[in-house]
Amino acid sequence: MITIKDLRELKNRNEKITVLTTYDASFTQHLEQAGVEVLLVGDSLGMVMQGHDSTVPVTVDDMVYHTKMVSRVRDRALLIADLPYHSYLNKNDALVNAKHLIDDAGADMVKFEGGGQLVAIAEHLIKNGIPVCGHLGLLPQSVEELGGYKVQGREQDAAEKMVEDARALASVGVDIIVLECIPQVLAKRITDEVDVITIGIGAGVDCSGQVLVLYDLLGITPGKRPKFSKDFLSEIGTGKSIAAAIEAYVQAVKNAEFPGPEHSFD
Ligand code: KIV
Repeated sequence: MITIKDLRELKNRNEKITVLTTYDASFTQHLEQAGVEVLLVGDSLGMVMQGHDSTVPVTVDDMVYHTKMVSRVRDRALLIADLPYHSYLNKNDALVNAKHLIDDAGADMVKFEGGGQLVAIAEHLIKNGIPVCGHLGLLPQSVEELGGYKVQGREQDAAEKMVEDARALASVGVDIIVLECIPQVLAKRITDEVDVITIGIGAGVDCSGQVLVLYDLLGITPGKRPKFSKDFLSEIGTGKSIAAAIEAYVQAVKNAEFPGPEHSFD
Protein backbone atom coordinates (compact mmCIF):
# COMPACT_ATOMS: atom_id res chain seq x y z
CA MET A 1 0.00 0.00 0.00
CA ILE A 2 1.21 3.49 -0.81
CA THR A 3 1.62 5.60 2.31
CA ILE A 4 2.13 9.28 3.01
CA LYS A 5 5.77 8.44 3.72
CA ASP A 6 6.08 7.05 0.16
CA LEU A 7 4.50 10.21 -1.28
CA ARG A 8 6.87 12.41 0.77
CA GLU A 9 9.80 10.43 -0.62
CA LEU A 10 8.52 11.04 -4.15
CA LYS A 11 8.26 14.78 -3.41
CA ASN A 12 11.77 14.84 -1.87
CA ARG A 13 13.36 13.17 -4.88
CA ASN A 14 11.37 15.38 -7.27
CA GLU A 15 9.34 12.55 -8.78
CA LYS A 16 5.84 13.74 -9.66
CA ILE A 17 2.87 12.09 -7.93
CA THR A 18 -0.05 10.93 -10.09
CA VAL A 19 -3.62 11.33 -8.83
CA LEU A 20 -6.92 10.76 -10.64
CA THR A 21 -10.54 10.86 -9.63
CA THR A 22 -12.47 7.61 -9.75
CA TYR A 23 -16.00 6.72 -8.78
CA ASP A 24 -16.43 3.02 -9.58
CA ALA A 25 -14.70 -0.38 -9.58
CA SER A 26 -13.91 -0.80 -13.30
CA PHE A 27 -12.11 2.50 -13.76
CA THR A 28 -10.31 2.02 -10.44
CA GLN A 29 -8.80 -1.23 -11.74
CA HIS A 30 -7.49 0.59 -14.83
CA LEU A 31 -5.97 3.30 -12.62
CA GLU A 32 -4.26 0.74 -10.40
CA GLN A 33 -2.94 -1.06 -13.49
CA ALA A 34 -1.41 2.18 -14.78
CA GLY A 35 0.34 2.77 -11.43
CA VAL A 36 -1.62 5.86 -10.34
CA GLU A 37 -0.46 6.51 -6.77
CA VAL A 38 -3.53 8.25 -5.33
CA LEU A 39 -7.22 7.65 -6.07
CA LEU A 40 -9.63 10.49 -5.31
CA VAL A 41 -13.34 9.78 -4.95
CA GLY A 42 -14.16 13.41 -5.67
CA ASP A 43 -17.52 15.07 -5.16
CA SER A 44 -17.10 16.03 -8.84
CA LEU A 45 -19.14 12.85 -9.24
CA GLY A 46 -22.16 15.11 -8.66
CA MET A 47 -21.44 16.81 -11.98
CA VAL A 48 -19.92 14.08 -14.15
CA MET A 49 -22.05 11.13 -12.97
CA GLN A 50 -25.20 12.54 -11.41
CA GLY A 51 -25.85 15.41 -13.86
CA HIS A 52 -25.97 18.25 -11.32
CA ASP A 53 -24.56 21.63 -12.32
CA SER A 54 -22.38 21.85 -9.19
CA THR A 55 -21.00 19.58 -6.46
CA VAL A 56 -23.32 21.10 -3.85
CA PRO A 57 -26.14 18.47 -3.98
CA VAL A 58 -23.76 15.54 -3.28
CA THR A 59 -24.49 13.80 0.04
CA VAL A 60 -22.42 11.76 2.48
CA ASP A 61 -24.44 8.69 1.45
CA ASP A 62 -23.45 9.30 -2.21
CA MET A 63 -19.79 9.53 -1.20
CA VAL A 64 -19.98 6.37 0.92
CA TYR A 65 -21.67 4.49 -1.96
CA HIS A 66 -18.97 5.41 -4.50
CA THR A 67 -16.05 5.08 -2.07
CA LYS A 68 -17.16 1.52 -1.27
CA MET A 69 -17.07 0.60 -5.00
CA VAL A 70 -13.55 1.97 -5.29
CA SER A 71 -12.18 0.52 -2.04
CA ARG A 72 -13.53 -2.94 -2.91
CA VAL A 73 -11.01 -3.25 -5.77
CA ARG A 74 -8.30 -0.85 -4.59
CA ASP A 75 -4.98 -2.64 -4.56
CA ARG A 76 -2.08 -0.37 -3.60
CA ALA A 77 -3.01 3.29 -4.25
CA LEU A 78 -3.82 5.68 -1.39
CA LEU A 79 -7.57 6.33 -1.34
CA ILE A 80 -8.92 9.81 -0.56
CA ALA A 81 -12.65 10.60 -0.37
CA ASP A 82 -14.26 14.05 -0.39
CA LEU A 83 -16.35 15.26 2.50
CA PRO A 84 -19.28 16.80 0.59
CA TYR A 85 -20.90 20.22 1.01
CA HIS A 86 -22.23 20.99 4.49
CA SER A 87 -20.93 17.71 5.93
CA TYR A 88 -18.20 19.44 7.98
CA LEU A 89 -19.99 22.51 9.33
CA ASN A 90 -18.70 21.76 12.85
CA LYS A 91 -16.16 19.44 14.47
CA ASN A 92 -18.69 16.82 15.45
CA ASP A 93 -20.34 16.54 12.01
CA ALA A 94 -16.92 16.45 10.37
CA LEU A 95 -15.76 13.60 12.60
CA VAL A 96 -18.94 11.52 12.27
CA ASN A 97 -18.99 11.90 8.46
CA ALA A 98 -15.25 11.32 8.06
CA LYS A 99 -15.62 8.11 10.07
CA HIS A 100 -18.33 6.92 7.64
CA LEU A 101 -15.93 7.46 4.73
CA ILE A 102 -13.01 5.77 6.47
CA ASP A 103 -14.49 3.05 8.70
CA ASP A 104 -17.58 2.14 6.65
CA ALA A 105 -16.45 2.88 3.08
CA GLY A 106 -12.70 2.14 3.20
CA ALA A 107 -11.04 5.50 2.44
CA ASP A 108 -7.58 6.20 3.90
CA MET A 109 -7.99 9.97 4.09
CA VAL A 110 -10.71 12.61 3.72
CA LYS A 111 -10.49 15.87 1.79
CA PHE A 112 -12.36 19.08 2.44
CA GLU A 113 -12.30 22.54 0.93
CA GLY A 114 -11.00 25.70 2.58
CA GLY A 115 -8.61 27.20 5.12
CA GLY A 116 -9.19 29.87 7.81
CA GLN A 117 -11.63 28.63 10.43
CA LEU A 118 -11.60 25.15 8.90
CA VAL A 119 -8.05 24.59 10.15
CA ALA A 120 -9.59 23.80 13.57
CA ILE A 121 -11.76 21.12 11.93
CA ALA A 122 -8.69 19.58 10.28
CA GLU A 123 -6.89 19.58 13.64
CA HIS A 124 -9.86 17.89 15.35
CA LEU A 125 -10.02 15.14 12.71
CA ILE A 126 -6.25 14.53 12.82
CA LYS A 127 -6.28 14.37 16.66
CA ASN A 128 -8.95 11.69 16.29
CA GLY A 129 -6.82 9.64 13.93
CA ILE A 130 -8.36 10.77 10.60
CA PRO A 131 -5.78 11.75 7.96
CA VAL A 132 -6.79 14.95 6.14
CA CYS A 133 -6.14 16.37 2.68
CA GLY A 134 -6.76 20.12 2.24
CA HIS A 135 -8.05 21.91 -0.86
CA LEU A 136 -7.26 25.59 -1.54
CA GLY A 137 -7.75 27.97 -4.47
CA LEU A 138 -10.91 27.45 -6.49
CA LEU A 139 -13.32 25.69 -4.14
CA PRO A 140 -16.13 24.11 -6.20
CA GLN A 141 -18.41 23.79 -3.13
CA SER A 142 -18.20 27.62 -2.72
CA VAL A 143 -18.40 28.51 -6.40
CA GLU A 144 -21.40 30.83 -5.82
CA GLU A 145 -19.51 32.88 -3.20
CA LEU A 146 -16.39 32.96 -5.41
CA GLY A 147 -18.44 34.39 -8.30
CA GLY A 148 -17.96 31.42 -10.65
CA TYR A 149 -15.16 29.17 -11.84
CA LYS A 150 -12.31 31.74 -11.79
CA VAL A 151 -8.58 31.71 -11.13
CA GLN A 152 -7.95 32.40 -7.42
CA GLY A 153 -5.00 34.09 -5.67
CA ARG A 154 -3.99 36.56 -8.37
CA GLU A 155 -4.12 39.57 -6.02
CA GLN A 156 -1.29 39.92 -3.50
CA ASP A 157 -3.61 39.76 -0.43
CA ALA A 158 -5.38 36.64 -1.67
CA ALA A 159 -2.04 35.00 -2.50
CA GLU A 160 -0.62 35.76 0.96
CA LYS A 161 -3.79 34.43 2.60
CA MET A 162 -3.50 31.19 0.61
CA VAL A 163 0.13 30.72 1.68
CA GLU A 164 -0.93 31.34 5.31
CA ASP A 165 -3.82 28.86 4.99
CA ALA A 166 -1.46 26.24 3.57
CA ARG A 167 1.01 26.84 6.43
CA ALA A 168 -1.77 26.62 9.03
CA LEU A 169 -3.13 23.37 7.56
CA ALA A 170 0.37 21.85 7.45
CA SER A 171 1.04 22.94 11.03
CA VAL A 172 -1.89 20.87 12.34
CA GLY A 173 -0.78 17.78 10.42
CA VAL A 174 -2.41 18.03 6.98
CA ASP A 175 -0.10 16.05 4.68
CA ILE A 176 -1.53 16.82 1.23
CA ILE A 177 -3.15 19.96 -0.19
CA VAL A 178 -4.94 20.12 -3.56
CA LEU A 179 -4.32 23.50 -5.24
CA GLU A 180 -7.01 24.26 -7.80
CA CYS A 181 -6.91 26.95 -10.46
CA ILE A 182 -4.24 29.28 -9.09
CA PRO A 183 -1.26 31.04 -10.71
CA GLN A 184 1.70 28.73 -11.35
CA VAL A 185 4.09 30.98 -9.34
CA LEU A 186 1.84 30.83 -6.29
CA ALA A 187 1.57 27.02 -6.46
CA LYS A 188 5.37 26.82 -6.76
CA ARG A 189 5.79 29.09 -3.74
CA ILE A 190 3.46 26.94 -1.60
CA THR A 191 5.18 23.74 -2.79
CA ASP A 192 8.66 25.14 -2.03
CA GLU A 193 7.92 26.98 1.22
CA VAL A 194 5.33 24.83 3.01
CA ASP A 195 6.10 21.38 4.39
CA VAL A 196 3.24 19.70 2.54
CA ILE A 197 2.64 17.61 -0.60
CA THR A 198 0.85 19.76 -3.18
CA ILE A 199 -1.37 18.26 -5.87
CA GLY A 200 -2.24 20.69 -8.63
CA ILE A 201 -5.21 21.02 -10.95
CA GLY A 202 -4.82 24.18 -13.01
CA ALA A 203 -1.87 25.15 -10.77
CA GLY A 204 1.09 24.57 -13.07
CA VAL A 205 3.78 21.96 -13.36
CA ASP A 206 5.73 22.77 -10.18
CA CYS A 207 3.37 21.05 -7.71
CA SER A 208 4.45 17.75 -6.11
CA GLY A 209 1.85 15.99 -8.25
CA GLN A 210 -1.19 16.43 -10.48
CA VAL A 211 -4.85 15.44 -10.41
CA LEU A 212 -7.46 15.45 -13.17
CA VAL A 213 -11.10 14.51 -13.29
CA LEU A 214 -10.96 11.12 -15.04
CA TYR A 215 -13.91 11.94 -17.30
CA ASP A 216 -12.06 15.05 -18.60
CA LEU A 217 -8.98 12.93 -19.36
CA LEU A 218 -11.18 10.54 -21.36
CA GLY A 219 -13.06 13.34 -23.13
CA ILE A 220 -16.45 12.14 -21.90
CA THR A 221 -17.37 15.11 -19.68
CA PRO A 222 -20.36 16.75 -21.34
CA GLY A 223 -20.04 20.40 -22.40
CA LYS A 224 -16.99 22.66 -22.27
CA ARG A 225 -14.01 21.35 -20.34
CA PRO A 226 -11.81 23.66 -18.26
CA LYS A 227 -8.61 25.07 -19.84
CA PHE A 228 -6.47 23.15 -17.34
CA SER A 229 -7.80 19.74 -18.37
CA LYS A 230 -6.66 17.62 -21.30
CA ASP A 231 -8.42 14.91 -23.30
CA PHE A 232 -5.65 12.30 -23.40
CA LEU A 233 -7.84 9.72 -25.14
CA SER A 234 -8.39 11.79 -28.29
CA GLU A 235 -4.79 13.05 -28.16
CA ILE A 236 -3.30 9.54 -28.43
CA GLY A 237 -5.40 8.80 -31.53
CA THR A 238 -8.22 6.65 -32.75
CA GLY A 239 -8.21 2.95 -32.00
CA LYS A 240 -6.46 3.47 -28.68
CA SER A 241 -7.87 2.18 -25.39
CA ILE A 242 -8.92 3.84 -22.14
CA ALA A 243 -6.01 2.03 -20.48
CA ALA A 244 -3.58 3.64 -22.97
CA ALA A 245 -5.01 7.12 -22.27
CA ILE A 246 -4.55 6.67 -18.51
CA GLU A 247 -0.99 5.44 -19.07
CA ALA A 248 -0.31 8.47 -21.30
CA TYR A 249 -1.47 10.75 -18.45
CA VAL A 250 0.78 8.97 -15.94
CA GLN A 251 3.80 9.28 -18.27
CA ALA A 252 3.07 12.94 -19.07
CA VAL A 253 2.84 13.82 -15.36
CA LYS A 254 5.96 11.81 -14.45
CA ASN A 255 7.92 13.53 -17.26
CA ALA A 256 6.58 16.97 -16.22
CA GLU A 257 5.11 17.32 -19.74
CA PHE A 258 1.62 17.82 -18.30
CA PRO A 259 0.43 20.39 -17.43
CA GLY A 260 1.98 22.60 -20.09
CA PRO A 261 1.81 26.41 -20.15
CA GLU A 262 -1.46 26.13 -22.11
CA HIS A 263 -3.06 24.37 -19.09
CA SER A 264 -1.63 26.82 -16.52
CA PHE A 265 -2.35 30.36 -15.32
CA ASP A 266 -0.12 33.46 -14.82
O1 KIV B 1 -14.06 16.57 -6.60
C1 KIV B 1 -13.02 16.51 -7.27
O2 KIV B 1 -12.92 15.81 -8.27
C2 KIV B 1 -11.90 17.31 -6.84
C3 KIV B 1 -10.77 17.47 -7.82
C4 KIV B 1 -11.16 18.41 -8.88
C5 KIV B 1 -9.51 17.88 -7.15
O3 KIV B 1 -11.89 17.84 -5.78
